[in-house]
Amino acid sequence: MSKQSALDLATGLGGKIAKDDVISAVDKYEKYHGYYGGEEEERKANYGDMVNKYYDLVTSFYEYGWGESFHFAPRIKGESLKESIKRHEHFLALQLGLKPGQKVLDVGCGIGGPLREIAQFSLTSVTGVNNNEYQISRGKVLNRVAGVDQACDFVKADFMKMTFPDNHFDAVYAIEATCHAPDVVGCYKEIYRVLKPGQCFAAYEWCMTDSFDPNNQEHQKIKAEIELGNGLPDIRLTGQCLDAVKKAGFEVVWAKDLAADSHVPWYLPLDKSHFSLSSFRLTAVGRLITKNMVKALEYVGLAPKGSQRVQDFLEKAAEGLVEGAKKDIFTPMYFFVAQKPVSVDQ
Ligand SMILES: C[S@@+](CC[C@H](N)C(=O)[O-])C[C@H]1O[C@@H](n2cnc3c(N)ncnc32)[C@H](O)[C@@H]1O
Repeated sequence: MSKQSALDLATGLGGKIAKDDVISAVDKYEKYHGYYGGEEEERKANYGDMVNKYYDLVTSFYEYGWGESFHFAPRIKGESLKESIKRHEHFLALQLGLKPGQKVLDVGCGIGGPLREIAQFSLTSVTGVNNNEYQISRGKVLNRVAGVDQACDFVKADFMKMTFPDNHFDAVYAIEATCHAPDVVGCYKEIYRVLKPGQCFAAYEWCMTDSFDPNNQEHQKIKAEIELGNGLPDIRLTGQCLDAVKKAGFEVVWAKDLAADSHVPWYLPLDKSHFSLSSFRLTAVGRLITKNMVKALEYVGLAPKGSQRVQDFLEKAAEGLVEGAKKDIFTPMYFFVAQKPVSVDQ
């Protein structure tokens, strides 16, 4: 069962960070970010520490609000948020042409929501690579509960330098994860290395769109809020991602910002003007209730000191994401399928 009660939220807060150290971890995490005067180069140089602190601090909130899959999805009319999330995962399996028995890699797998869904949907074995120990411990429990612990596993590794041999996987995907990479060409090269020749890599990337103007102060503020609220060293343009795919050696099969096809805006669950009973915890009222609950839990000592500040930067993230989407300067679903050439000497 995913951890979704208030007590689960409180006990998981801080992940593998000792409870007494949560507040100093929050301090250090915030200081990495432009919003608090931090520099991009510093975030990139210390990406391991920055991203791991972020996921130790937020995973419990994510599980409480989103469930087991930590990503957005384009949504069609009449579809629930949960259904759209599953469809987004099935779409990846379809685009990769997954076949029963294949060995698949999920890069930056979170607690494994997509990995379990895709493995069961396509009858494949999926390995999740993740640098965050707390998320892997949660993922292992959830794999056992779902009965996929024979077919699927987790490997604790940095996706910039993975431990797998060359030409190992039949398919690789990444869902809203490689945006954490300090160097996207290096990250895609590593994915290229572990993928078998002739096989495909597909990803949903977080990107700034062509409408982003680096000289516009408001655009920069939104970008900084998204980076702070989501543990990102920088957010690349869609074109930079596509160039990186090619530089890594792949041939692009197709690429598109799927946000444009979403009948229901992907950011709607976070929009303050929206109300939904089925995703109540993500709404403005739901978030206010969570905020007060976390305050009370922190006050009575059930949640570590610093928990409210985590909730605060997550709130910043929600504001930045909604504003970025409304101004059409940001997307969390720039999608591409890329193939590793059959002959790598070509
Ligand atoms: C937004 S979460 C998405 C998780 C998952 N793909 C999902 O959709 O549920 C990003 C994930 O990338 C992982 N990650 C970030 N940087 C990483 C790195 N350098 N190496 C391995 N995993 C990393 C994080 O720990 C987290 O699990």
